[in-house]
Amino acid sequence: MKLFDVYPLFDINIVKGKGCHVWDDKGQEYLDLYGGHAVISIGHAHPHYVDMISKQVATLGFYSNSVINKLQQEVADRLGVMCGYDDYQLFLINSGAEANENALKLASFYNGRTRVISFNKAFHGRTSLAVEVTDNPKIIAPINNNQHVTYLPLNDTEAMEKELKKKNVCAVIIEGIQGVGGIQIPEKNFMQALRKACDENGTVLILDEIQSGYGRSGKFFAHQYSDIHPDIITVAKGIGNGFPMGAVLISPKFKPLYGQLGTTFGGNHLACAAAIAVLDVMKEEHLIENAAKVGNFLLEELRQFKKIKEVRGCGLMIGLEFETPIKEIRQKLLFEQKVFTGVSGTNVIRLLPPLCLKMDEASDFLTRLNAVL
Ligand SMILES: Cc1ncc(COP(=O)(O)O)c(C=O)c1O
Repeated sequence: MKLFDVYPLFDINIVKGKGCHVWDDKGQEYLDLYGGHAVISIGHAHPHYVDMISKQVATLGFYSNSVINKLQQEVADRLGVMCGYDDYQLFLINSGAEANENALKLASFYNGRTRVISFNKAFHGRTSLAVEVTDNPKIIAPINNNQHVTYLPLNDTEAMEKELKKKNVCAVIIEGIQGVGGIQIPEKNFMQALRKACDENGTVLILDEIQSGYGRSGKFFAHQYSDIHPDIITVAKGIGNGFPMGAVLISPKFKPLYGQLGTTFGGNHLACAAAIAVLDVMKEEHLIENAAKVGNFLLEELRQFKKIKEVRGCGLMIGLEFETPIKEIRQKLLFEQKVFTGVSGTNVIRLLPPLCLKMDEASDFLTRLNAVL
């Protein structure tokens, strides 16, 4: 059987990882400034993570959500304290798209409405509702195009207020920092006006922190720079450091109903062991503070590079926008300098390293980037 060929691949076979480095099958080492698309939070093959998952799989990898799983409550307790939302409720699933899918369903169950506001360049996943609120017509199949969504320009307070005043909007979904859209940061004033307009008009505010959350921005959630509390927060990627997992954090105003949401695999024992290990290491190694410190250093240094048109970002979520397409720069970084980076559109390089990136590794990256530019 052939693989369904939807990914343009680099001809590299990664077989091993440690911290912020990965190795291919020929023994070549690479510096990982991509984190497998913002997924690796605590670093590749962290010994505590390996130990927790190994012990859990040797004891009990999976049992269904029809019995008590104390590990789920442990994730909820630990995550609640660490992220500052211990009064919220936690629903565990398997991916980012699934988190957004459930968030949008909950919003619609809550207020009975069906209209959603999303933003230009937004990315929220590839399943039915998640893809419908994603601003990319190429990946919205006709079956997903159900006219629920109005896309507005990011940070346009007037346009947002005008739509919400119609009092027919079910939910606004917004990324803490737009990732796929090229590292676009919502302004604090806009976020505060959005919170107020949602409150005044019965609209549910959903913060997609799937890429920007879990410490990546230098705070647990990027929206915490705006001093607002969303009604629902979605997370995935960094929560399991590569173990497929997602979660929805739900404000106390939503009352759970038996059977309204559900999943076979979500919150299984092995996933919870991975999530607990991630929280342990984030706390023990002060990775959120590290993301802020090393991110600030990188942002400052990158802004000295004359060939970069604009540097945007927060913590270890950084976009480098160039005047011209970056394909060649990215290829040279990978094949000559042995550095993995991400991309947005044609002109933006995205840096999404593990949150344990050290200062000397950041400096090393700057040297390798300089060699390419
Ligand atoms: C902001 C955001 N939301 C949702 C998703 C979808 O997550 P997943 O691929 O786990 O479904 C992504 C993935 O890149 C993302 O960046």
